[in-house]
Amino acid sequence: MSTVPQSVLVDGIGTLVTNDPELGEGPLGEIHDAALAIDTGHVAWCGPRGAAPGTDARVDAAGRCVIPGFVDSHSHVVFAGDRSNEFGARMSGRPYEAGGIRTTVAATRAATDTELSDTAASLVREAHAQGTTTLEIKSGYGLTVADEERLLRTAARFTEEVTFLGAHIVAPEYAGDPQGYADLVTGAMLDACAPHARWIDVFCEDGAFDAETARRVLQAGQRRGLAPRVHGNQLGPGPGVRVAVECGAASVDHCTYLSDADVSALAESAAEGPGTVATLLPGVDFSTRQPYPDARALLDAGACVALASDCNPGSCFTSSVAFCIAMAVREMRMSPEEALWAATAGGARALRRSDVGHLAPGARADLTLLAAPNPIYLAYRPGVPQVAAVWKDGELVSGNP
Ligand code: NIG
Ligand code: FE
Repeated sequence: MSTVPQSVLVDGIGTLVTNDPELGEGPLGEIHDAALAIDTGHVAWCGPRGAAPGTDARVDAAGRCVIPGFVDSHSHVVFAGDRSNEFGARMSGRPYEAGGIRTTVAATRAATDTELSDTAASLVREAHAQGTTTLEIKSGYGLTVADEERLLRTAARFTEEVTFLGAHIVAPEYAGDPQGYADLVTGAMLDACAPHARWIDVFCEDGAFDAETARRVLQAGQRRGLAPRVHGNQLGPGPGVRVAVECGAASVDHCTYLSDADVSALAESAAEGPGTVATLLPGVDFSTRQPYPDARALLDAGACVALASDCNPGSCFTSSVAFCIAMAVREMRMSPEEALWAATAGGARALRRSDVGHLAPGARADLTLLAAPNPIYLAYRPGVPQVAAVWKDGELVSGNP
């Protein structure tokens, strides 16, 4: 007989963020003095606590805030090696270059499956402990058929959101022959990798892949049933956003350097729905001393904005979505409500998921109990852990309520 209670009431919630304006106040659908019932991995009920149904067990939130678990739609946590010296050099004045990726490729190829899996497991645990309940994971540090496939197999042990990023940079063996490498990515590598992934991604940037090759990679993936997403406009203005919108990508990630036409294209695509989400990764801009993306221009134009960590050993080694929210609020002039929505419902939109990122009845019971009375604390207390407990699929995966 299972010792896990089938249904649990999280009671005494000071502020419950549902992300469903029909269930509560404001854009986040906040319910005050609330309760939420979990049954067999899903939200069974939420509302004012006086109206709560009977359950097998009860947890007392003691006036604290409950939010949907963060949906971190962009990470590269399957890797080996250390690039702290590269970060140190950058902070002493050296620029960030896409070529640093090669350092991680060499270390990753040399690592055993167990080493890769242990590193990923520890970063996934770290992410859970900070309130993340959905984590997308990309390949991209293998760049051979066998290595990309094993990175995807490893990623699939931790998430349903697995992304094939063979087109991260041109593999060192193909230096000077980018078309030869694109042939490999869209041929034998895609054959081996497509069965293990849901998404295909390409780094469309000077120093990585041009617009024409990016389109070729995404279309080849689509023919194999993978849905497109793009890394673009990270290091300078470029065609990434245009390619993403043209190809119907679910998301274009970074968006640090956008033209007015890029902003309009993203806004138009959001209006037509489901559209291409602009996923902003402020941890990268922080860790590479770049300007922050113009979130206000995107939001004011009507684009759909997500926030994600981009946890990786090179451009941004943080798994803290709360830190990204704090930067988005302080540095990018997003309101605390906009930033929390972007890191939960926005991330879900970027992964085309309707079962996560909100807490309406029927959604997955992926929720985070904050050690705080309201969600403003995520930005108000930067750098201070604000997560008390995390449930994923209705099971406590971190903390202690
Ligand atoms: O999202 N932009 C390309 N890829 C990663 C960087 C990876 C690295 O530097 O190792 C990113 O920032
Ligand atoms: Fe990335």
